Amino acid sequence: MALRDCAVVVLAAGKGTRLKSRLAKVLHRVGGRPLVEHTMRACLPLEPATIVVVVGHQAAEVRAVVEPFGAKTVLQEPQLGTGHALLMAQRALEGCARCALVLPGDAPLVRTGTLLGLTNAHSQGRAAVTILTAKLDDPTGYGRILRKRDGSVAAIIEEKAASAELRAIREVNSSIYVFTLEKLWPVLAHLKPQNVHRELYLTDAIALLDSRGECILAEVAPDPREILGCNTRAELAHVDRILRENKRAEAMEAGATLCLPETILIDPDVEIGPDTVIEPGVQLLGATRVGPGCTVRAGSVLVDTVLEEGVVVKQNCHIAGSWLGAGVQVGPFAHIRDGAELRAGSRVGNFVEVKKSTLGEGVKAMHLSYLGDARIGPKSNIGAGTITCNYDGVRKNPTTIGAHVFVGSGTELVAPVNVGDGAYIAAGSTITEDVPSNALAIARERQVTKPGWAAEHRKQTGAGADVAKDGPSARSAVSSKTASPNGQRGPKASRKPARRKKVSRR
Ligand code: UD1
Ligand code: CA
Repeated sequence: MALRDCAVVVLAAGKGTRLKSRLAKVLHRVGGRPLVEHTMRACLPLEPATIVVVVGHQAAEVRAVVEPFGAKTVLQEPQLGTGHALLMAQRALEGCARCALVLPGDAPLVRTGTLLGLTNAHSQGRAAVTILTAKLDDPTGYGRILRKRDGSVAAIIEEKAASAELRAIREVNSSIYVFTLEKLWPVLAHLKPQNVHRELYLTDAIALLDSRGECILAEVAPDPREILGCNTRAELAHVDRILRENKRAEAMEAGATLCLPETILIDPDVEIGPDTVIEPGVQLLGATRVGPGCTVRAGSVLVDTVLEEGVVVKQNCHIAGSWLGAGVQVGPFAHIRDGAELRAGSRVGNFVEVKKSTLGEGVKAMHLSYLGDARIGPKSNIGAGTITCNYDGVRKNPTTIGAHVFVGSGTELVAPVNVGDGAYIAAGSTITEDVPSNALAIARERQVTKPGWAAEHRKQTGAGADVAKDGPSARSAVSSKTASPNGQRGPKASRKPARRKKVSRR
């Protein structure tokens, strides 16, 4: 749809005083992108002769957003108003186009089709300017469009300069215009700072063109929401809500189920496959891609993460920069980050952190573990409370665990360390040396059991008299006390010490 003979100028130098922010207005984000990036994306498909962005406040940061879209920038310093801003682009536009589509950097909802309609309307007539307008229920804050009896535009009156009668006009200026440049430059040179802010208002150019007998056209935007600007935090929030709503509608259109959609945040580049269910309070951010048939349960946050088909993310997980293969299940309360790779069918349970680690197919790490800088082969089982001690205070060291390894609960793997295929590690071990394939490694103190010691101790110290009194005997009092937190009483609990003894006898 190349716009012959038409350039784009984006006015993005302002500070945004009404936001009360250190950040320049056009860098504030809505719908997951800086304001001015939305404007760039709306203009780019028009293939204009050139795109010039007028920068000022935080010029370097604004350049970093717009230059990847092929825009040139010109500096406005100091910022003396919208008319002055457009004057700054004059030299950059010389010889490259007959017309310019001018936009503010703070109106992110305008659609490419609407801009195309505006440029077409302008090129058909012989107007000096064609203004995009909208009829708002609440026009507060916007410049009002003053029309003559015959319907043509006479002037744009800024709110502060408007009488009560003019303020009642609901047709407003969007700040989006197409100007015929040879008619624009002479009047811009005559703008005067006749307002409370002592600025050169681009809007004053309209009355000047009218006084020269030039033709002024106005096109009413089909959807008035498209022209909404963002001068305040409340307006940013309002526009953000609209953009988020649009993104959710797109996801549902593509076949995703969103439960209580208004509570779900989806960034613009996120893709979601069909038959995926997203529960309330979920955030899908950055370059996240969720495959088909997945479930992301309530409260989970995914950043720059890929879920292949049929992945289940249970409640309240945080997953960043990671890849989860088909059928993987994680959570609730899992933290998976920094290049973690969970291959097909692997499972990560509650309160498990996985950092920069690969879990092979079918690996299980179901409870309370930290796995950092580890490679774990397929079908290995990582017991509750396993910790890779990957950091020695200077550098991060790797842990390698083979296939079909059984790591008992409460194991510490002091990296760098390797565990061969099929090895067993006894619960509670601190592994500091490599474990060969198919070996058993036990690395803990042998248990010492002193029968009757506790009862004797109580007798001598008088401590815990209630235990001595309540319990049928000292021995069963001890075993029921240690077992009760797990709810394991009776034979199961009393079997446990016997099994431990057997191991230590080897
Ligand atoms: C402007 C219009 C108003 C219109 C409204 C639509 C003027 C005087 N008023 O008001 O009629 O209804 O937009 O949203 O134009 N900028 C610069 N340099 C400057 C000043 C501003 O580059 O010296 C840029 C800002 O960064 C912003 C854009 O121009 O992106 C518009 O400026 P802003 O201050 O937001 O104008 P409004 O008061 O909203
Ligand atoms: Ca504005």
